[in-house]
Amino acid sequence: MHIELHGVTRRFRSRDVETTALNALSLAIPSGRLTTVIGPSGCGKTTMLAIMGLLDAPDEGEVRFDGECVSRLSARRRLALRREKVSFIFQSLNLIEEISVTENVALPARYMSLPARECRERAEQALEDLGLGFRAGHFPFQLSGGQRQRVAIARALAMRSDVILADEPTGNLDRESSAGVLEALLACRARGTTVILVTHDPDIAELGDFVVEMQGGHVTLERAGELGERRAAPSERWVRAIGT
Ligand SMILES: Nc1ncnc2c1ncn2[C@@H]1O[C@H](COP(=O)(O)OP(=O)(O)OP(=O)(O)O)[C@@H](O)[C@H]1O
Ligand SMILES: [Mg+2]
Repeated sequence: MHIELHGVTRRFRSRDVETTALNALSLAIPSGRLTTVIGPSGCGKTTMLAIMGLLDAPDEGEVRFDGECVSRLSARRRLALRREKVSFIFQSLNLIEEISVTENVALPARYMSLPARECRERAEQALEDLGLGFRAGHFPFQLSGGQRQRVAIARALAMRSDVILADEPTGNLDRESSAGVLEALLACRARGTTVILVTHDPDIAELGDFVVEMQGGHVTLERAGELGERRAAPSERWVRAIGT
């Protein structure tokens, strides 16, 4: 699924300060590719992911999924669409400590009202794919930081959603665990999932098909990364090509 943001502005107001987190930001995320996003703290990366993933709505501008405006749908329809299409991997992982690793991974699929057995099978498969099969019956508190991170990714994998939005999933991990996370995301991409990865690590950012650099609520540069060097196309041209 390709995602477009058109002139997206998001402001946050507290008592006497107004922050413009995103300032007329336009961006097209190509379908089935890994797009990485890099930029200084506070430049609006998390805000952008939340808006792309329909967790939040822009004050101005719009979000389109496969060309269709989705940011002005009712809250209920947005929720339904988000559950169907989008998986998040947050920095804070939101694992539930009281239920097993497998149950954690199966949970979002359960929200989609899939049969319990199918959810369980998907969860077991995703854990297997991430080298965590042997931890399936454990509880999150029994895992290392890197393993917990992979459980959160397994949860996204088990959803088989069209889009994965990952906010610094390698932030607190050592090199080896980071590599495991990246491999898992690349495996999703290989299945046709659209993956958007926010990172502070310039080396990781370079991996993407496309690299998006942000500053002060804007996109300051879009370019090809290592995966995409041959197919690179500036996204403005791309947006025009698909008709805006
Ligand atoms: N709920 C909120 N209320 C008020 N201000 C907010 C809120 N969420 C974000 N902001 C502000 O909007 C700006 C962008 O925040 P955002 O979290 O998107 O940055 P970021 O690029 O993800 O930073 P980091 O790399 O530190 O995670 C910041 O100035 C932040 O303080
Ligand atoms: Mg952030």
